[in-house]
Amino acid sequence: MTDNEMVAVGVERFGERLRPLRLPVPVAGPGEVLVKVVATAVNPADVGMVAGTYPWDEPVRFPMVPGYDVAGTDVATGRPVLGFTAHKATQTGSYAEYVALPADRVVPLPDDVDPVGAATLPLAGLTAMQLLDAVGDVRTLLVNGPRGAIGSLLTQLAAERGITVALDGDGEVDAAVDVVGGPVARAAFDRVRAGGRYVTVVPEFWVPGGPFAAERGITPRVLAVRYDREQLLGLVERLAAGKLVARVGAVLPLAEADRAHRIVGRAPGAPRVSGKVVLVTAPR
Ligand SMILES: NC(=O)c1ccc[n+]([C@@H]2O[C@H](COP(=O)([O-])OP(=O)(O)OC[C@H]3O[C@@H](n4cnc5c(N)ncnc54)[C@H](OP(=O)(O)O)[C@@H]3O)[C@@H](O)[C@H]2O)c1
Repeated sequence: MTDNEMVAVGVERFGERLRPLRLPVPVAGPGEVLVKVVATAVNPADVGMVAGTYPWDEPVRFPMVPGYDVAGTDVATGRPVLGFTAHKATQTGSYAEYVALPADRVVPLPDDVDPVGAATLPLAGLTAMQLLDAVGDVRTLLVNGPRGAIGSLLTQLAAERGITVALDGDGEVDAAVDVVGGPVARAAFDRVRAGGRYVTVVPEFWVPGGPFAAERGITPRVLAVRYDREQLLGLVERLAAGKLVARVGAVLPLAEADRAHRIVGRAPGAPRVSGKVVLVTAPR
């Protein structure tokens, strides 16, 4: 491998198993930052990308390298950073030794913050924050997948706002957020009081089982996460201050991304892992 080459992990076609690829090290253009990747989290979106079910904005380009979240080092400054690839729009993936990102999509990471934990934050954390903003000022909130990546961050962030999170039972709530989809989504909707709020991040095309129409003065709303630098800075600040706990369930080498996807995609025979699966690059 030459100095201008790197190892990435991706696929040449949908449905293939993830495998190491030798690709050119990306060149940071004007206004971009070249990040040497230390850790990248595995999200359900990445599993969908490999399966071909992910809804990119444009037709996919191969080889396709998944990966939304990246913790690493700004090559130019040597400083730790956390970034968001915005894969839906960019098709830039972080399952690689290096990734070039617009400077706006990279935030500083304090030296004492573990990059493995930090890597779990961008996609899941931004989604959790935007779900909370979408439900607004409520007293009681149902989260139907509270132990998942979004759910566990959402539960912590909701407590900060003084919102009581309902985990089980059958009482009425002011609002519900759905991070599961299908019939479980319907059950969450049914617990919202008349005139309350309901937001899902799992639309019908992603997990069939809906959709359902407005009822009892509640209009189901689908949220699509968007990048927000201030929110990412806020997540890092909370993590650094110990106000937010990142739940890491397994750390695997980048080369074992296929195994990681089998875990996150709940493939038959794959072990069940509670907490985020994070891929780490080998030191070079
Ligand atoms: N719209 C957007 O912009 C957006 C952004 C990010 C993510 N998402 C989507 O949001 C969803 C959640 O993401 P995530 O990262 O939080 O995933 P995750 O970490 O895998 O968590 C999924 C949660 O759903 C629960 N769950 C799964 N199947 C269930 C079932 N049949 N009944 C009850 N609970 C069930 C899991 O519970 P157990 O672990 O206890 O089984 C877990 O708590 C994914 O579909 C992802 O693609 C959408």
